[in-house]
Amino acid sequence: MPFVLPSLPYDRSALQPHMSAKTLDLHHGKHHKAYLDKVNGWIDEKGLDGLSLVEIVHFAKQRGDRALFNNAAQAWNHGFFWQCLAPGGTHPSEALASKIHATFGTTERMLGKLKEAAATHFASGWAWLVLEGGSLRVTSYHDADTPIAHDGVKPVLTLDLWEHAYYMDYRNEREKFAEAVLGHLIDWDFVERNLDGEGAARADQEQEALVGAG
Ligand code: FE2
Repeated sequence: MPFVLPSLPYDRSALQPHMSAKTLDLHHGKHHKAYLDKVNGWIDEKGLDGLSLVEIVHFAKQRGDRALFNNAAQAWNHGFFWQCLAPGGTHPSEALASKIHATFGTTERMLGKLKEAAATHFASGWAWLVLEGGSLRVTSYHDADTPIAHDGVKPVLTLDLWEHAYYMDYRNEREKFAEAVLGHLIDWDFVERNLDGEGAARADQEQEALVGAG
């Protein structure tokens, strides 16, 4: 059963001026779609039928199938990223803020670490706030790599650091993109839900027959 490109949870122009409709057209409509199309094209050939996207990421990693891993992980990463964003952003609740403060002291320090990760990460990848051993941690992964492929690491919040995420709106200034997104577009309610450690399932994209049945 092929995977279906999940709809954005907002209009493509709703994140302006921080992220343009043109960027979302390309990033969601072309890049994310291309990753899913690749995975869909391999369902029969690689025996993936019946596996969820998260299971395919694990399957690909176990078998050392780099091409499958890259495309499945990128599809999952993007499905998670879109949900981290909301028009105008929201504010962290007291419960989330206290969890953040327990590790970082202040929310600003946590955001500063994410910005630093975004600014200093070499080449393509993703900056992450993850849950590990019950505590929050800021990290970054290269290329398609994803916390769901690492034992004990749970996804909480991500920022896409690939050039296709920001080049049209910010040219080469990735740090400005990170500042704008982290400062104006984060859906902290989604972030808080991921403190339950179940974030992986939230971007486990729908398959055609299930969509039809639902
Ligand atoms: Fe991307």
